[in-house]
Amino acid sequence: MKVDEPIGEFLDYLYPNTVDIILGDTLEYLKATGDEKFDLVITSPPYNVGKEYETKTSIEKYLDQQEKIIREIVRVTNHNGSICWQVGNYVEKGEVFPLDIYYYQIFKKLGLKLRNRIVWYFGHGLHARNRFSGRYETILWFTKSDDYVFNLDAVRVPSKYPGKRYFKGPKKGQISGNPKGKNPSDIWEIVVKDWESGLWNIPNVKSNHPEKTNHPAQFPVELVERCILALTDKDGWVLDPFAGVGSTSIAALKNFRNSVSVEKEKEYVKLANERIKMLKEGKLKLRPINKPIHQPKPNDRIAKIPDEWKGLFKEA
Ligand SMILES: C[S@@+](CC[C@H](N)C(=O)[O-])C[C@H]1O[C@@H](n2cnc3c(N)ncnc32)[C@H](O)[C@@H]1O
Repeated sequence: MKVDEPIGEFLDYLYPNTVDIILGDTLEYLKATGDEKFDLVITSPPYNVGKEYETKTSIEKYLDQQEKIIREIVRVTNHNGSICWQVGNYVEKGEVFPLDIYYYQIFKKLGLKLRNRIVWYFGHGLHARNRFSGRYETILWFTKSDDYVFNLDAVRVPSKYPGKRYFKGPKKGQISGNPKGKNPSDIWEIVVKDWESGLWNIPNVKSNHPEKTNHPAQFPVELVERCILALTDKDGWVLDPFAGVGSTSIAALKNFRNSVSVEKEKEYVKLANERIKMLKEGKLKLRPINKPIHQPKPNDRIAKIPDEWKGLFKEA
């Protein structure tokens, strides 16, 4: 439903769940929080790359600090709950340190089980000169036990060939697919049309994206929505210990889950609250879940070889 003007109390009927954004230090919040309160912890921690909200330190010291926080996170996660840890690479003097490899050891040591290493990739970003340009990040999805929530039907994507049938065996002639769609796989890719490619297709939040705020490392709401829908039930509890501008709170509220988000920077908390208010008022620009990426047509100016390059290359 699109709401143009704030309509007071009615908004709370549209979005009845709790959404708490806490200004403060996440370790302090966690220490004051009871065991097994959350069904899903999903976050993108600081990467130690010297963004404006972090002080760059050695990778050892950085991971040491993170381990203290992760121990508490594991404690506050429900026994059948999940933790989704979204990270990219830490780069030092041109050397790449894939953070998920380092983080995996910490979670494993704390007894968690990895269910998927999801690779999500995006088409845009800085162009590297001395190595291939980085175009993906990962989400490590861990569970605390073998008894965990996984609602596959909530995140299925349409099949590429819904009319496909078994061509041999006892089911010969029967339709082989699922009418609800297929498993979206562990690669969430940005190419052509997501449904055609059969992969999940989520643009990284950059300047031309409808969700972009002033935060330098925002993640797409759509990315969180998929995890929330698959890994929690309605009215479940979600925690984001490094909340930024509240992308997790928005995804949770929009999908009828309760959430707590912790962020140390006042400016981001303010932006998060503004975004939540806008969501409630129907004014927040979000990229709709599963919307295909725009692809230029062969005759669009942007898809053609510029006049300045003609003669340098043969046109196909
Ligand atoms: C990668 S950003 C998260 C961005 C977020 N996913 C979003 O979409 O806006 C990490 C955030 O963690 C916050 N942060 C770092 N250390 C923190 C701490 N100890 N307690 C609370 N927040 C912290 C930073 O200020 C930053 O906004």
